[in-house]
Amino acid sequence: MDNRQLTELLNQMTLEEKIAQLLQLTANFHEGGESQITGPLEEMGITESMVTASGSVLGLSGAQSVIDVQKSYLSKSRLGIPLMFMADVVHGFKTIFPIPLAIGCSWDTELAEKSAEIAARESAVSGIHVTFAPMVDLVRDPRWGRVMETTGEDPYLNSLFARAFVRGYQGGSLKDEPERLAACVKHFAAYGAPEGGRDYNTVNMSERNLREQYLPAYKAALDEGCEMVMTSFNTVDGIPATGNEKLMRGILRDEWGFDGVLISDWASIREMIAHGAAEDDGEAAYRAIRAGVDIEMMTPCYVQHLPGLIESGRVDEALVDEAVLRILRLKDKLGLFDNPLRGADPEREREVLFCQEHRNVSYELAARSSVLLKNEGGLLPLASGKKVALIGPFAQSDDILGWWSCVGVKEDAVKLGTALQERLAEGQLVIAEGSGVVSVEQSQIDAAITAAQDADVIVLALGEDSAMSGEGGSRTNIRLPEAQLELVRQLKKTGKPMAAVIFNGRPLDLHGIIDEADAVLEAWFPGSEGGAAIADILIGRVNPSARLTMSFPHSVGQIPVYYNHYNTGRPMNPDKTEERYVSKYIDSPNDPLLPFGYGLSYTTFEYGELKLSGNEITANQPLQVSVSVTNTGDRAGIETVQLYIRDVAGEVVRPMRELKGFVRLELAPGESADAVFTITEEQLRYHHSDLTQASDPGTFQVFVGPNSRDTLAESFRLV
Ligand code: IFM
Repeated sequence: MDNRQLTELLNQMTLEEKIAQLLQLTANFHEGGESQITGPLEEMGITESMVTASGSVLGLSGAQSVIDVQKSYLSKSRLGIPLMFMADVVHGFKTIFPIPLAIGCSWDTELAEKSAEIAARESAVSGIHVTFAPMVDLVRDPRWGRVMETTGEDPYLNSLFARAFVRGYQGGSLKDEPERLAACVKHFAAYGAPEGGRDYNTVNMSERNLREQYLPAYKAALDEGCEMVMTSFNTVDGIPATGNEKLMRGILRDEWGFDGVLISDWASIREMIAHGAAEDDGEAAYRAIRAGVDIEMMTPCYVQHLPGLIESGRVDEALVDEAVLRILRLKDKLGLFDNPLRGADPEREREVLFCQEHRNVSYELAARSSVLLKNEGGLLPLASGKKVALIGPFAQSDDILGWWSCVGVKEDAVKLGTALQERLAEGQLVIAEGSGVVSVEQSQIDAAITAAQDADVIVLALGEDSAMSGEGGSRTNIRLPEAQLELVRQLKKTGKPMAAVIFNGRPLDLHGIIDEADAVLEAWFPGSEGGAAIADILIGRVNPSARLTMSFPHSVGQIPVYYNHYNTGRPMNPDKTEERYVSKYIDSPNDPLLPFGYGLSYTTFEYGELKLSGNEITANQPLQVSVSVTNTGDRAGIETVQLYIRDVAGEVVRPMRELKGFVRLELAPGESADAVFTITEEQLRYHHSDLTQASDPGTFQVFVGPNSRDTLAESFRLV
């Protein structure tokens, strides 16, 4: 339908029908819909007719169920406007991929795109039209449970992943490709910066920091054509995002030109009351509609109060018309007016959900997103023929999908113990639980010690359970639970070499493990094929290549600790750490335990000289930076060569390093290749004090290396 036809349709709608389009409810409100979430009409304060005309459904999937609900809904619909079905398809639908934080660590945007395409296919054939993803919130605080859902702490890398996910979900045309989904970037804005890492907590930051660090990834998703945006729960500069006119109308709509659908987060319109920004539901509705929020998720402020607000003249009906038109336009883009059942297809569903082809991609992504953090004496890969004791609560755990794993089935996940058993010879592997995730009995430790004594090497399988991260999963203590640390201490006494594999959803304080174990592999929550991928890394069929996209702190006390920090006026001299009146802790290093970009391989890489094509850069003349990298080990491997820049003196102080590019080199043993980067003047721009973007002439440093810490350095001037 063209704009005129959509407007004609809008003109036929009654005010009640229009406002109902703005309401999103879970499936249990609809005939034939089932949902785990309950919400009776009385509790919600809405009537049957509002449900009958509501515009979209949250959280229902299953081709037949969606077909039933859609048909029953349309049979009662006066104008035949179909429902849109939306869900949180975050890192896979039934085939579960590693958590997004792990996907980020792959630095492989093509594979990330592929994972989103598969997630879209599986969910679209199961009846879903829109995914509440990608979540692109930048995060610097590992206490926050939702770090597992982001790709990390860097605005540039997060932006690349944001684009890749949107491409993967949406494809080229939602109308012509019914096995794609509309994407909804979230949570606008700065949800990833709650004070103290406590979920839903206040966000307090300058507009410059917001624009420079936090906004780029949302913008990147929109530049890629992302159809929807979700508001965040937090305040931004003292005003809840959902009612924040400056943010939503000002930045999102007017400045960035976003004309797609803006949805509230669950109940976040009503939550303006708890925030202290509205006295009642009516005021909350007023603030949200003025801010430009189109769909209200799971609270009735709009349906109950917009009619009165319009009648009293406080709200212009044009605001509702705009919102409805955006919703109708999205329904049209999805092809729902031509085919309200769209991709929903029970037969296709049986064919593609969790099929081997999809599982293979999940395997590949898990293999590429596990980060080797330590490997003393080359303990990994495990020498062939050695007897292995696999010990720990994750040895045979299927809790490896992670939070937001949609309709993924834990029991379908490949467990580490099972995968190792299949790969090692008879009698080569013994498995002991050792402890629970948070509790331990002496008898478990005794059995583990017995198993270890009979083995050549201990492989520890430790971690957080999936509910220890995710929404509402913030922690103040980000070490592994004491039960597991006690297990490690006891096993250390056996004197056997130990490799630890850690399953978890956030950067941890690894003390108590990284000092005790000879090798540490960060597996994250690796998804459906996790056990197989990790087992292949352990035995050396796969050479790990992933790199951290969040710094790992020495302790909670260092948080926030991130690589692109400022220098301060009194930076600590690393050769004079005893100096007092400098910016430092007296009981901890300033630097994190493991920096952004860090990760090891089973092979070694040597960097040649850092070469610059000149020592100046101008608006029209970029600079080329190159370095030759050689694989000096005896197996093939991938090296992620990273380029960072520092603007030495700006009108506004600049970070010590900012990632501006990276190249992944796949090198055979003995092979060399050049990593080549081009730096343009545009990449040197930043937000000045008046919030305009410009570059400052002067000296810049350029750093190239395998992570944000261990780099080669040169300098150039912008003239
Ligand atoms: O999409 C989510 C959001 O990330 C958190 N609140 C609930 C929404 C819908 O499930």
